[in-house]
Amino acid sequence: MSINILAIESSCDDTSCAVICDGILKSNVIASQKVHEAYGGVVPELASRAHQQNIVPVVSEALRQANIKKEEISAIAYTRGPGLLGSLLVGTSFAKGMAIGLNVPLIDVNHLHAHALSQFIKENAEDEVPEFPYLCLLVSGGNSQIVLVKSADNMEILGQTIDDAAGEAFDKCAKVMGLPYPGGPHIDNLAARGDENRFKFSKPQIPGLDYSFSGLKTSFLYTVRDGMKENPEFIQDNLADLCASLQKTIVDILLNKLKKAIKQTGVRHVTIGGGVSANSGVRNGVEQLCKKEGVKAWIPKRVFTTDNAAMVATAGYFKYLKEEFCPLDLPPFARVKL
Ligand code: KG4
Repeated sequence: MSINILAIESSCDDTSCAVICDGILKSNVIASQKVHEAYGGVVPELASRAHQQNIVPVVSEALRQANIKKEEISAIAYTRGPGLLGSLLVGTSFAKGMAIGLNVPLIDVNHLHAHALSQFIKENAEDEVPEFPYLCLLVSGGNSQIVLVKSADNMEILGQTIDDAAGEAFDKCAKVMGLPYPGGPHIDNLAARGDENRFKFSKPQIPGLDYSFSGLKTSFLYTVRDGMKENPEFIQDNLADLCASLQKTIVDILLNKLKKAIKQTGVRHVTIGGGVSANSGVRNGVEQLCKKEGVKAWIPKRVFTTDNAAMVATAGYFKYLKEEFCPLDLPPFARVKL
């Protein structure tokens, strides 16, 4: 009998459901919430309400696309945390209800583990996967970490941001330029036609493998403020160059520490995950760095970089094989380490 895992992801502002059958992805449905655009950031209460509206149609669609009946599900995996508590509660409660209704085991998944394992999402049986141990550059709206992935359930954070995440730097600088939320993808698009060497922004000087992005944010803000004193149209006149220079600085900061980590650990495989790993500069930069260092770079499809249930299903499948199920009274958690 095949192992069919249905997974639910609701940690932030994407409601997602995926089905994997014997480790192969059959469906991955994502409903993104547009309601936050007007506010320039995710509004937690609105996110939970939108999850409540989206979850039934998203789960139904994932089952339909996978061509599978509810009764054929072997286990329900769900994101336990970290994330927004109200959002997590919707996915957690739904997953528990479904597990009770179908009388199947429940599998709790750490959202960060899922991102770090996203390279194991298989769309076809012959898809290759990285070898343990590998490094994962995990960069999203809430995290910027270099993780040593020793196995599916043994991960060590080698370095992480001491203040803002890389995604926050993208989004907040985008806000300064009047770009819509989330700003990362807009900066990525505009950067393609800008001069990345036009503006210089400050880079952090902190020891070890930790990151910092708050100084860069301030440096960006001051450049724009000073430019606007001279020319009120400074942003519009220099938009592409500002985006390209900002993106280059963020990528340089990320790669500098990743290079150190590769040398320090001697790993042969490097993956990337989290929303910011959809960025063209990050993807090209990691690929070039790995080539130079003689290690293999695993660059995921963009759909598997931002929040998605396919990665939760994949992480859940690892746990299913080890029969690591969780009790029905397990609460979600907003904050947690890897
Ligand atoms: O992992 P994710 O979907 O969820 C959260 O952590 O909330 O990451 C979202 C972040 C946002 O900051 C967004 O601006 C950023 O990922 N992002 C990008 C790109 N696509 C998404 N940043 C830069 N370039 C992109 N192409």
